[in-house]
Order: sequence, then C-alpha cells, then structure tokens
Amino acid sequence: MGNIVEINNLTKIFGDGDKSVKALDDINLSIQEGSFTSIIGGSGCGKSTMLRIIGGLDTEYDGKVLVDGENVASPSREKGFIFQDHRLLPWLTVKENIRFSLPKEEKKNDELIKKHLAIVGLADFEDAYPKQLSGGMAQRVAIARALANKPKILLLDEPFGALDAITKVNLQEQLLKIWQREGITMIIVTHDIDEAVYLGQKVVVMTPRPGRVKKVYDVNIGTMRVRTGEPFTAARDKIYKEFFKETELPFTYNI
Ligand SMILES: Nc1ncnc2c1ncn2[C@@H]1O[C@H](COP(=O)(O)OP(=O)(O)OP(=O)(O)O)[C@@H](O)[C@H]1O
Ligand SMILES: [Mg+2]
Repeated sequence: MGNIVEINNLTKIFGDGDKSVKALDDINLSIQEGSFTSIIGGSGCGKSTMLRIIGGLDTEYDGKVLVDGENVASPSREKGFIFQDHRLLPWLTVKENIRFSLPKEEKKNDELIKKHLAIVGLADFEDAYPKQLSGGMAQRVAIARALANKPKILLLDEPFGALDAITKVNLQEQLLKIWQREGITMIIVTHDIDEAVYLGQKVVVMTPRPGRVKKVYDVNIGTMRVRTGEPFTAARDKIYKEFFKETELPFTYNI
C-alpha cells in the first residue's frame, strides 16, 4: 500500500517578529496507508500542531502536506479526530451526540450509530447523557463518534492521557482491535513511551525548540501485542534511553 500522508519540508511558525515561535522545523515524514504510527516528544515540541495540520484544522504553514494525494485544505469526514477530552455535547444523549456528528444523508441511520456503540462496548448506553458516563466511557463514545463517520485516517491527540492506568490499557487494546479489523490509518500523539511502543508500528520521536523529527523507530513486536517479555521491553528500553540518561543514585536504599 502507498503512503496516505506525505509531509515534505513542513515548517510552522506562530506569530511574527521577536515573539514568533517555530513550532515545526523542516519536518519530513511519510505514513503508510493502514499503518499505526505513534508520535512522542516532550511538551511543546509541536506534536499537536503537526496533527492539526494533517487533519486540516490548521492550513497556514510552509512546505507540502498531502493526505491521500491531496493538499489538505480543511477538515473532512475522512479525517477523524480524538482529543484528550471527549468533547461530547452535554445536553445530548450518547446516541444524539453521534447523530449530531453525522452528515445529512446518515442522520437517520440508527443502525450505524448502534453498530459503532457496540464496537466500543456501549450498546446499553445510547440514551445516557455524558455526565452519567465515566471518563473512559465518554472517551469510548468519542471513538464511536469518530468511527461512525468512517474515517480513512484517525488522528488521536493524547486520547487516553486523562484516564487511569487500567482504563487506559483496556482502551488501548480496544483501539488495536478496531485498527486491525477496520484497517483505518491511525496516528496517535502521546507522552507515554509504553503506549507509543504498544500501539505503534513506528514511533516518531520529536524534539522541541524548534520542533523536529529526531528519529523514527520501527517497532518489531509482531501482530501479537504483548506488553511483557523481550520484544516489547527491548523496543521500549531503546526509546527510554533516547529520552533519559541512566542516572546513578548517590545513595542506596536499605529496606
Ligand atoms: N495557537 C498558537 N499560537 C501561538 N503559539 C502556539 C499555538 N499553538 C502552539 N503554539 C506553540 O507551538 C509550540 C508547539 O505547540 P504544540 O501544542 O504543538 O506542542 P505539543 O508537542 O503538542 O505539546 P504538549 O505535549 O504539551 O501538548 C509551542 O511552543 C507552543 O507554545
Ligand atoms: Mg499537544
């Protein structure tokens, strides 16, 4: 399969003059159709900016960004977005939140809504309001809402950042299953190295000021994703070492 995203010499500067910030500096990256890519890097290195540009939420930049062979001029149904907060409308039920996001010709398609709520395990919650849901459930509705719009590419900006560790692991597994079944290209931005390695076939490491791609790792842990054992820990350790120097404690604990 070909590349669904092609980024050439992408530079993004916010503001002008003394106060300008170079958020992205000469980024070159291509992403294969149907693949799962993780982007990690410290705060402020331009991860969200890059995702917003790929998604057509920001169209002012220098360089070339092609999605599915075309210049991205605006957001579209083909490009699903999931943010750290679920962004559900509080006055609408789960079902109506999803309906609200659908295009005119699909608004009456209850089957489509039900099918996607079932995919994220929330078939029984279609009439609940967002405030009746836990954080993880609300985020699952956000995933169902994005999927119901049948995106070709799903852009996830720290989608599980606000969730507890157990919910997060469950949702990561659900997301992988959806990816394997639906064949949607997924790009996730995360601060969490374990998450990046567990989900991504490739891990793009970015560095800040200015935002650059430092390295792209291939994660060869196979289709059976297992968090314990050699292949995973070896891949993870390599990336940890990229970020952190081993430090020796100046004392030992006697427990
Ligand atoms: N709308 C904006 N106006 C001005 N500067 C901005 C704007 N959005 C982002 N920036 C700047 O661009 C740089 C990259 O920001 P961005 O939000 O992409 O970082 P990030 O890697 O997503 O960080 P985090 O991990 O904290 O979410 C930062 O220096 C930020 O201050
Ligand atoms: Mg961000």
